[in-house]
Amino acid sequence: MTHDQHFRVWRGDDEKGELVDYPVEVNEGEVVLDIIHRLQATQAQDMAVRWNCKAGKCGSCSVEINGKPRLACMTRMSTFGEDEVITVTPLRTFPVIRDLVTDVSFNYTKAREIPSFAPPEGIEPGDYRMAQVDVERSQEFRKCIECYLCQNTCHVVRDHEENKEAFAGPRYLMRIAELDMHPLDAADRQKAAQEEHGLGMCNITKCCTEVCPEHIKITDNALIPLKERVVDRKYDPLVWLGSKIFKR
Ligand code: SF4
Ligand code: F3S
Ligand code: FES
Repeated sequence: MTHDQHFRVWRGDDEKGELVDYPVEVNEGEVVLDIIHRLQATQAQDMAVRWNCKAGKCGSCSVEINGKPRLACMTRMSTFGEDEVITVTPLRTFPVIRDLVTDVSFNYTKAREIPSFAPPEGIEPGDYRMAQVDVERSQEFRKCIECYLCQNTCHVVRDHEENKEAFAGPRYLMRIAELDMHPLDAADRQKAAQEEHGLGMCNITKCCTEVCPEHIKITDNALIPLKERVVDRKYDPLVWLGSKIFKR
């Protein structure tokens, strides 16, 4: 079954842009990315869109569809009414390069600010066995495809350019949580999370979790436990005393 649909796509660059209307053919089983490709093949050869796998695994095709952050390759046309106008715009939190392509380097900067896994010195392969529960915990976080939909959605940085420097965003606070909960990691993640990566700016609205295409429970399984660990440490009398003694 084929029908025509009204698409509206944001076209422009880092200086100016506008929504442009396109009537376009839609066939059964297609996703939004198929329609963008049809527009490129027919009416808008120069329309810029980033994509790679068309299977929900590379995290490249993140856009906003009718105002909702989504993967274009995983959004079925059948979820919309045939009369509905489908508006596709670039991610709002990152600067536009052209059309639907944004500059997501904010995320690479944040990734680089987190020190990598730090096992205790002298540990040899085979010296340590992880419990299955610890393996499974980090496995969930490792499903991340780095689509940055959570980073784009979090209200702390969405429309708040001024917060970007102090806030790592849900994806990277989750990375810190993963390392902090790793039984072998010896780095002090909690202090850095609070003081350098803006953990306190997250007020657990869970919008990040809602948009995650991998259904990772970012807030419940990473951010809240990390906040609890930071609080426990702050109010644990022994930890508090230790931090005072070692400061001298
Ligand atoms: Fe995307 Fe989920 Fe990873 Fe965030 S945590 S970047 S929403 S896959
Ligand atoms: Fe932002 Fe997610 Fe926290 S949306 S405020 S990081 S729970
Ligand atoms: Fe790879 Fe959509 S093209 S996730």
